[in-house]
Amino acid sequence: MNTACAFVYFPLLSVSVLAGPYTFTLLATYIRGEKAFSASILLDDITVGYYNSETKIYVARGNTTNEDDVIDPDTLKDVGENLLNHFIGRSHLLKPVNETESRVVYQVANVCEQSDNKLDQMISKTAYQGSTFDDLHFLDGKITYQLFSNYTEEPGKIRNLELSKSRLEKLYYPACIKALNNYLKKRGTQLNRKVKPLVRLIQKANSDSGGSRVSCLSSGFYPRHINLTLFRDGQPVSDHEITGGDLLPNADGTYQMRKSLEISAADKHKYTCSVTHLSLDNTLDVTLDFSKQFESAILSVLIVLALVLVFGTGVVIYKRRNRRPAPKEHVET
Ligand SMILES: *[C@@H]1O[C@H](CO)[C@@H](O)[C@H](O)[C@H]1NC(C)=O
Ligand SMILES: *[C@@H]1O[C@H](CO)[C@@H](O)[C@H](O)[C@H]1NC(C)=O
Ligand SMILES: *[C@@H]1O[C@H](CO)[C@@H](O)[C@H](O)[C@H]1NC(C)=O
Ligand SMILES: *[C@@H]1O[C@H](CO)[C@@H](O)[C@H](O)[C@H]1NC(C)=O
Repeated sequence: MNTACAFVYFPLLSVSVLAGPYTFTLLATYIRGEKAFSASILLDDITVGYYNSETKIYVARGNTTNEDDVIDPDTLKDVGENLLNHFIGRSHLLKPVNETESRVVYQVANVCEQSDNKLDQMISKTAYQGSTFDDLHFLDGKITYQLFSNYTEEPGKIRNLELSKSRLEKLYYPACIKALNNYLKKRGTQLNRKVKPLVRLIQKANSDSGGSRVSCLSSGFYPRHINLTLFRDGQPVSDHEITGGDLLPNADGTYQMRKSLEISAADKHKYTCSVTHLSLDNTLDVTLDFSKQFESAILSVLIVLALVLVFGTGVVIYKRRNRRPAPKEHVET
């Protein structure tokens, strides 16, 4: 099981439960029947390392200048062993939805959040075959438990709640906040960087409908929070007309987003794509004006006509001038 699959399976990263300034995440993936699990460790949306419970080795990723000591090895060993016991101890209770499914994936995400204006909090969430199963939420000294699934097992059978609560409070929470702060010291610059989006509004003919598709593409920005709005003659285009809008990661750690709209061939509206982002002082507007495009189309036809006239006349005069001496020469010979 590689870590890339972990992102595909786990729903937590797409549903931003802890939409706060800084989060630290341990995302562990276990396949039923195996003796080990793999984990990705993330600071906000940056993968800072990997852990394998078989080798018990933590591998710092990316900026490896002195990041091996950021996470306390003893704590990591404790967390790793607890998680492995959790996986092995509970996976047999979770029967496959489809008995013939060869791979049964069980995941745990431990996420802590720290910000200046909110209380620190932590969520320990489990997912089974990509669906959230349950979560434990630690906030302000209180722990709440939620079971999302309709599996028939009693929650107490799936999790020893008292033990889970005490581990969350006494082991995971302090370790997570400590690792978060240690990593913030190392990765602060990378995390606080601001990269401007490249915004384009493009029109592409749609041969099926005869009309065209207008797409606003904003790419290469960081951080990931962005507002991208499409306007028609100054009014926001309603959501049901728009497709896309998913935030997608680029290989370089930046993000992209595209929103599209189908329009008819006869559309004479003015479309504006409006983008606000932390890296931009003002709203960035890009416009496609089909009424103006029509005018400019007429204008270019007129210019071509004028050129044809001038050039055409020139050619005729040139030909006539050239032709005149020719007969003379012919006459002389
Ligand atoms: C169970 O999974 C197998 C393999 O993925 C698939 O071929 C089969 O159609 C599934 N059966 C049901 C009832 O979903
Ligand atoms: C609950 O059970 C129904 C019927 O078996 C199923 O379709 C649905 O996906 C289940 N919901 C969850 C959250 O597992
Ligand atoms: C890597 O870490 C060093 C030392 O903390 C820091 O000076 C540098 O800016 C970091 N590089 C990146 C790309 O974050
Ligand atoms: C997006 O819009 C909302 C609501 O107007 C605003 O609170 C938020 O700060 C905006 N985000 C960005 C990145 O501009």
